[in-house]
Amino acid sequence: MSTLTIGAVRERAPGERRVALVPEAVTLLRRAGLDVLVEAGAGSGAWFTDAEYTDVGATVVPPDELYARADVVLCVGPPDVETAQALRAGQTLIGLLEPLRNPALTEELTGRGVRTVSLDLLPRTLSRAQSMDALTSQASVAGYKAALVAADSYDRFFPMLTTAAGTMRPAQVLVLGAGVAGLQAIATARRLGAVVSAYDVRPASRGEVESLGARFLDIQSPPNGEPEAGQGGYARELTEQEQRAQREALDAHIARSDIVITTAQVPGRKPPLLVTATAVEQMKPGSVVVDLAASELGGNAEGTEPDKTTVLDNGVTLIGAGRLPSAMATAASTAYARNLVALLCHLVRDGELTLDPADEITAALTGGGSS
Ligand code: NAI
Repeated sequence: MSTLTIGAVRERAPGERRVALVPEAVTLLRRAGLDVLVEAGAGSGAWFTDAEYTDVGATVVPPDELYARADVVLCVGPPDVETAQALRAGQTLIGLLEPLRNPALTEELTGRGVRTVSLDLLPRTLSRAQSMDALTSQASVAGYKAALVAADSYDRFFPMLTTAAGTMRPAQVLVLGAGVAGLQAIATARRLGAVVSAYDVRPASRGEVESLGARFLDIQSPPNGEPEAGQGGYARELTEQEQRAQREALDAHIARSDIVITTAQVPGRKPPLLVTATAVEQMKPGSVVVDLAASELGGNAEGTEPDKTTVLDNGVTLIGAGRLPSAMATAASTAYARNLVALLCHLVRDGELTLDPADEITAALTGGGSS
């Protein structure tokens, strides 16, 4: 029986520093009896040298050799056109392939006999899948970093400080969207000593927010009183009227905040607009808005663009945070690689990659599930 060969490619998206496998993950895959190829230079953005990979039993190879030899190709984000074209029938590509945003990629690959496993389709609420949940691991990194980015741009202290020069008041931080990233942003801002409030359209998040020592804003959720009806634990998209009511209710809270961190998403949809230009106008000079949802489609805050920081005429800094997990590439890659090892341990049986459509996790990841 030939040994299954796993190959980790070098990410090619501009600004992407993460890598799918880190050396500790290679050790675990080798122990599980798998051969591991790593593209030369793949780990350099996350500070892992080629030598560290070879030390733990991986073979470092140029890209052509990787595509030729690997049975399973691992990536972080969707591959570029060249990488996608190099994949051949019978190979399996595993990564955050964004099939909801770009269905053409997975369709094209599937059409050519390349099997695709999209980690972004993992059922979130299935407890046995939690160790494979890359959206959660990456969102945690993003939420943590968002609070640090905000603190770094804010020219005052986060904690209340009593010094010989008197007392400094603590920063007022508002976090909108209390999913994985939002909760981590709340926890980090609290650890830095800020006074934190938060809001999410899912009323179930109130308990989680309060357990982190933050105040949950009392806005009717959803604003028109309809029950929240998301799929797979996700929020549903609010109607235009509900969104307007929500924004009006949030405006006064935004104006009172020194920092606003937004993380609200509805999968496959344009992010909801929560912070309007009018609300930002009411904020004090020196305030900071960090928008984790900033994307080409628009973000949670009006006027934010990914990876762009703008200081407005009224002295408010708008930060479109595009690539926060990549900005903490070592931690993000380590967590992501652990997710992949857990997934591979689930999928590899008797030395073969088994994509069993009857398995709930596999069905979802290969686009056949409902979650
Ligand atoms: P996400 O990244 O899709 O969205 C972030 C947050 O934005 C969510 O909490 C969502 O409710 C909120 N949101 C959406 N529209 C909003 C609006 N108009 N106003 C305010 N907030 C809005 O969410 P994430 O972090 O990926 O989590 C998705 C769901 O999966 C959550 O319910 C989360 O608790 C759940 N989850 C469960 C896990 C488990 O049970 N093991 C693991 C990870 C996530």
